Amino acid sequence: MRETGETKNIGLRGVKVADTRISDVDGEKGILIYRGLNICDLVVRSTFEEVSFLLLHDYLPRAEELKRFQLELISEREVSETVYGFMRMMPKSAHPMDILEAAVPILAAYDPQLHDESRDANFKKAIRLIAKLPNVVAAWDRIRKGREPVRPNPDLTHAGNFLCMLSGSPPDRATARDFDICLILHAEHSFNASTFAGREVASTHAHLYASIVGAMGALSGELHGGANSEVMKMLVEVGEVDRVKPWVSEKLQKGGKVMGMGHAVYHTEDPRATILRRICSQLADRTSDRKWFELTKAIEASTQEEFRKLKGKEIYPNVDFYSASVYHMMGIPTDLFTPVFAMSRISGWAAHIIEEKFAEAQPKPELYRPDADYVGTYCVPEACPYIPIEERSK
Ligand SMILES: CC(C)(COP(=O)(O)OP(=O)(O)OC[C@H]1O[C@@H](n2cnc3c(N)ncnc32)[C@H](O)[C@@H]1OP(=O)(O)O)[C@@H](O)C(=O)NCCC(=O)NCCS
Repeated sequence: MRETGETKNIGLRGVKVADTRISDVDGEKGILIYRGLNICDLVVRSTFEEVSFLLLHDYLPRAEELKRFQLELISEREVSETVYGFMRMMPKSAHPMDILEAAVPILAAYDPQLHDESRDANFKKAIRLIAKLPNVVAAWDRIRKGREPVRPNPDLTHAGNFLCMLSGSPPDRATARDFDICLILHAEHSFNASTFAGREVASTHAHLYASIVGAMGALSGELHGGANSEVMKMLVEVGEVDRVKPWVSEKLQKGGKVMGMGHAVYHTEDPRATILRRICSQLADRTSDRKWFELTKAIEASTQEEFRKLKGKEIYPNVDFYSASVYHMMGIPTDLFTPVFAMSRISGWAAHIIEEKFAEAQPKPELYRPDADYVGTYCVPEACPYIPIEERSK
C-alpha cells in the first residue's frame, strides 16, 4: 500500500496555461497593459465605460461607438423586481458578496439571450452584467439597512451612478472621478485566480453568467479580492499610527500576513498601488481627515522594514492596500469592498470568457482538464478489496 506522496501543489506559479490578447502584467518592471495600453495612460485619459469597451472589443472606441456603448449600459441598469424581492427575503446578516453571487443566476434567468451562444449575444450579456451589478450591490446595502433601493440615474456616469444608488445622493465630481479610476484599475489583471476560474468554467461551454459565478467565488477569498476588506479591518484594529510598529512586528514574527501587501506576480510596486496611494492622499485632503491615509502609509513602511529584517527581501503594497482607505473615505461600507471589486472586474472577466469561448487567442476552444498524481491508498494489482460494512474494524 502507498499511503503518502509528494504534493505538486505550487499554485500553478509560472505555469503558462493559455495565450491571451487582453492584458499583460510585467511583474519585474511593474507595468500593467490593457489591450496594448498602459494603465497609467488609461486612468488619466479614459473612463471605466471606455475601458470596458476596450477590454471587450480590443480597440478604443470612436466617439459615436463610445456614445452608443454608454447608452446601452445606461439602458441596462435596471434589474427585475425579483432581484429586490429575493434580497428582502434574505437575512440582513448575509454577506454582500454571497448576495451578489446569488443574484447573478437570477439575472441570468431574465436575460432574453441566455442560451444564445453567438458572439454578439455574449457581448450583450456582458453589457447587461456590467450595467446591473452596481445596482445589485447598492440595493443590497440599502435593503439590509431597511431602506428602499435607489433607482439608477441615467444622467450619471457608471461610477457616479453607483455612489448615488448607494448613498441616495449624487457624489461630487472629484469623488465620482476618483471612483471611476478605481474601477479602471480593478477592471483587469490577466490570469489571476478569479479570471482563471471564470475561463475554466467557460471552457466547459457553460454560459457567461455561470462562468461569472465561478469567477466571483474565487474573488471572494481573502488572498484575492477579499483582501481589501481585510485591510480595512486591520486599519481599524491598529487604530493609531503610534501602534503600527509593534502591531506589524508582532504580526510578522508570529508568521501572520499583513493584508494588502505582497503579490504573486509583482516583484516591485504594483502600478495600481502607486495610483491609489495618490488618490488616497488627495481624498484625505478633500475630506480633511488624513487619519486613514497616514495609518496605511505607516503600515506600508513598517511592513517593508520588518520584512527586510525577517526575510531579507522587499515587499510592496498591492491594489487592495490603498483601495481600502479610499473606499472607506468615499463612504462605502467595508464588507462592500469585494463586491465593488467584482463590479469592476466584471469587464475583464467577460472579456476573458468571450476570448475563451471563441478561441480568440488560440487555434480552437479547449476544455481545461489538468492532471494530478494520485497519492492516496493504493493496492496492487488494481484496487483494494471492498470490505463489507459489518466486517470493518475502523
Ligand atoms: C498575494 C500573496 C498570496 C502572494 O503570495 P506568494 O506568491 O506566496 O508571495 P511570495 O512568494 O512573494 O511570498 C514570499 C514570502 O513572503 C511571505 N508573504 C507574502 N506576502 C505577505 C504578507 N502580506 N504578509 C506577510 N508575509 C507575506 C510569504 O508567506 C512567503 O513567506 P515564506 O517564504 O516564509 O514562505 C501574498 O503576498 C499574500 O498573502 N498577501 C496578503 C493577501 C493579499 O493582499 N492578497 C491580495 C493580492 S492582490
